Amino acid sequence: NERTFIAVKPDGVQRRLVGEIVRRFEKKGFKLVALKLVMASEELLKEHYWHLRNRPFYNRLVRDMSSGPIVAMVWQGLDVIKTGRKMMGETSPSDSMPATIRGDNGVEVRRNAIHGSDSVESAHREISLWFQETELSSWDVCSTNWIYS
Ligand code: GTP
Ligand code: MG
Repeated sequence: NERTFIAVKPDGVQRRLVGEIVRRFEKKGFKLVALKLVMASEELLKEHYWHLRNRPFYNRLVRDMSSGPIVAMVWQGLDVIKTGRKMMGETSPSDSMPATIRGDNGVEVRRNAIHGSDSVESAHREISLWFQETELSSWDVCSTNWIYS
């Protein structure tokens, strides 16, 4: 069963979108495996966005991400990585369709409210970067048989 790392970024937390974002993933049928509110260190953020280190916005991105608490989560379910990315919308909120998280909540790329892993490899990397193994809960959702056939 696939897992992905999802984070409500500082702008999303400030805009009180935590409940809305959790609600969308719950409602879709995904299982919450871990959740915490954290002030991320610069060290962690630099590693998290290492693949963007040569981009002109890298330093500002790391600064934005350390400007307030982040809600870090792990969600599990069928194709959760790809589906989660669809639910988020495009990188820029202005390119995102209505009914996506970014499409419904913002206008600017710097304030796009949410992060989600973009591949199986990045999901593994990000989950182990943000969480200890002991912070991940294995549990049975009673509605599983009504979500999966
Ligand atoms: P994440 O889920 O946050 O990783 O977004 P993404 O995968 O849709 O985009 P990407 O990994 O390419 O970029 C990471 C983050 O950098 C984005 O979510 C934006 O917050 C920011 N970003 C991306 N492109 C730009 C840009 O052109 N300008 C600025 N200022 N920020 C950008
Ligand atoms: Mg990305």
